[in-house]
Amino acid sequence: MRAFRKLLQDQISGDLRSLPMRVRRLVSPERRLARARNIDDLRTLARSSVPRTVFDFIDGAANDELALLRNRQGFRDIQVYPRSFVDVSTIDLSTDVLGTRISMPILGAPTGLSGLAHADGEVGIARAVHAAGSIYTLSSMASYSIEELAREAPGPKWFQLYLWKDLGFVRELLVRARESGYLAVVVTADVARAGRRERDQRNGFSIPPRVTVRSLLGGVRHPGWSTSFVRHERFVIATMPANAGSSKVVDLAEFNKSQFDASVTWERLEWLREQWTGPIVVKGLMHPDDALRATRIGANAIGVSNHGGRQLDDAPSSISMLPAVVDAVSDSAEIFLDSGIRRGSDVLKALASGARACLVGRPLLYGLAVAGEPGVARALSILSEELETAMALAGANSVDVLNASYLVR
Ligand SMILES: Cc1cc2nc3c(=O)[nH]c(=O)nc-3n(C[C@H](O)[C@H](O)[C@H](O)COP(=O)(O)O)c2cc1C
Repeated sequence: MRAFRKLLQDQISGDLRSLPMRVRRLVSPERRLARARNIDDLRTLARSSVPRTVFDFIDGAANDELALLRNRQGFRDIQVYPRSFVDVSTIDLSTDVLGTRISMPILGAPTGLSGLAHADGEVGIARAVHAAGSIYTLSSMASYSIEELAREAPGPKWFQLYLWKDLGFVRELLVRARESGYLAVVVTADVARAGRRERDQRNGFSIPPRVTVRSLLGGVRHPGWSTSFVRHERFVIATMPANAGSSKVVDLAEFNKSQFDASVTWERLEWLREQWTGPIVVKGLMHPDDALRATRIGANAIGVSNHGGRQLDDAPSSISMLPAVVDAVSDSAEIFLDSGIRRGSDVLKALASGARACLVGRPLLYGLAVAGEPGVARALSILSEELETAMALAGANSVDVLNASYLVR
């Protein structure tokens, strides 16, 4: 690893020095960000900002990546009525989620190892989300620890939990989250096994990244990313015990297999309900019966999600399952939606279908990969501006008025 770092450092400083000032300005992250009109543009820029292994880890999904496509198609298939002669001179995006007032109905989804995209990592995402007036969810596989994030990004936060095999460790994480002021626990339900992410398998994705000819070339081709990678070393799971530490290279699939507990049943959710007195969100439920059962156990919110298509490739799109889940449980729990949001109008469609708010994963990671925290801020401003425009044209001046009558069925 030391030799790898040295090689990269030499290469990076040489590379940047050799660029004339004018060219350096042209490729500056700020310039690149300003060119992004939408989330797809940010994705294109992200692809050229980080090594392929990193881009594929963010962008990829399970097997044939059909659920990923289905998530997009699900939103595309819903249309919105254009409505006129409503005063939309001001549009109120604010709402309440689990007792916290937020300025817009878009939250930061938990994404593990975000430090791979940029050293700002989860702290950069959380700060941008807080600046936009919303809530960030820290993954239990994050590159910053529970305490680091609380210190560096003091706005409202939730903590995402995997029900790992080691219950003592899970209990310890809950205590740490409570002591650090996290407002809610988001327990991820769709991980009996890790999905088969074939791009990661092909790339030999591991934690920390393995030094191979490909990774070396990837680093050399992306000097900006490499500088940050070498200086900040944000490529391990900060929350985890030593077995995932920087000293041992672990294949991601192998790591997940060793940690995820395939024997988890509803009793474990009951156990969690006893351990955590604050709000619990169960993320990754798609079937109305599962949502109902979770609320009967005491879940305060349901996250309708197929994990961004990264788990069961044959899953339906999350937006197509939302109405059935809303019918089943919306009297007893708040409902959030994630997976496939790339346009502000997608958020309108989710809210009009009964979601309280949406979580976004990759859009923020693309922004992070391009320029760190300012890149995330750009992704959020694109989404909120698009949402406002769609609401204005649909004749909705507040998220509270949105309901199924805005959608063409
Ligand atoms: C790179 C990456 C890492 C993720 N890590 C986690 C995680 O640690 N825990 C979790 O519950 N979900 C994780 N997710 C899923 C997200 O929380 C969310 O469900 C998904 O990204 C939403 O889809 P979108 O990316 O299309 O917005 C991850 C997603 C991505 C793209």
